[in-house]
Amino acid sequence: MSAIVNSNNQPLLSVQNLHTWFELRKWGFGRAGYVRAVDGVSFDLGYKEAVAFVGESGCGKSTLARTILGLYRPTKGDVVFEGKRLSTFSSQEMRWYHSQVGYVQQDPYGALPPFMNVQRILEEPLLINGVKDKAERERRVREVLTEVKMTPVEDFLPKFPHMLSGGQQQRVVVARSMIMRPKLIVADEPVSMLDASVRVEILMLLRALQEEHHLAVSYITHDLSTVRYFSERIMVMYAAKIVETAPVNDLLREPLHPYTQALITAIPDPDANNARTFKQVPPGEPPSLINPPPGCRFHPRCPHVIKGLCDVQVPPPFEPRPKHFVECWLFK
Ligand SMILES: Nc1ncnc2c1ncn2[C@@H]1O[C@H](COP(=O)(O)OP(=O)(O)OP(=O)(O)O)[C@@H](O)[C@H]1O
Ligand SMILES: [Mg+2]
Repeated sequence: MSAIVNSNNQPLLSVQNLHTWFELRKWGFGRAGYVRAVDGVSFDLGYKEAVAFVGESGCGKSTLARTILGLYRPTKGDVVFEGKRLSTFSSQEMRWYHSQVGYVQQDPYGALPPFMNVQRILEEPLLINGVKDKAERERRVREVLTEVKMTPVEDFLPKFPHMLSGGQQQRVVVARSMIMRPKLIVADEPVSMLDASVRVEILMLLRALQEEHHLAVSYITHDLSTVRYFSERIMVMYAAKIVETAPVNDLLREPLHPYTQALITAIPDPDANNARTFKQVPPGEPPSLINPPPGCRFHPRCPHVIKGLCDVQVPPPFEPRPKHFVECWLFK
């Protein structure tokens, strides 16, 4: 898969056959099992590229994000950032990595230490990364607060998280993720816990910061209606795997995987008069990630299942249109 590369022909981030499994607690002599939350995911992310990950609740989006961030150790496979393998990082290299990759979580209040004011929260990464000059730290804190439009900054510097609205808290989280001037921001459902009225504002802010600072962004969401805001490519996750990936407009115009087709018909229509056209994903539940079905994981819910093939063999990625990859036997 092509991506914007540096002069050494490297993408910014390369996720290679990544597996993150959580061990189930073993009771008595019971057999231990695993929740295969990420189960064989590979993709490249280019410099300055914005990619959206979409998929139903529980399909492994946050686990993928946290493994990319180095917060979970992969069971198998690796994450390679600018040619460096995360699995080989010392704690010092991991600190450097966290200055290069910012993290915006779903719950801003939970992400902010309640006992620190905004000034202290934003200074913390600078202190950890050895910015010793107090005046320099203050300058950078003010600069980043201005970038996230929390002005006049004097009003916000002494405030504690509980004194801010949800939207303002998320702006502080975004400011903190930006303060070390990262190359990549991983935003995991950054607006899903906010009031509808501020969601678009925060997405537009992330988009503006991405353009101004030439950032790559991984935007994770279960809401396909927001992906157009700032992603160039979409990856659709189903049951711990990526089943389809394409440039945003291609995928929205012509989704190929039966699961993606179902997701797209499920986008709520903002016009209330058309509310009845809202459709649901196909009947049935997403499969267990402890015992996933053999073959294509979507086959038990798929209206186009080919018996003897889809229920037996895992489909490889096919490329039926340029840069449009789909793991579905219909495109063999
Ligand atoms: N720390 C953990 N220990 C055990 N199982 C976990 C852990 N974290 C996640 N899981 C399981 O892994 C699977 C994927 O979870 P994950 O949170 O990555 O999904 P998600 O796509 O982010 O869902 P959502 O849209 O609800 O945020 C789920 O079955 C979840 O229960
Ligand atoms: Mg999640």
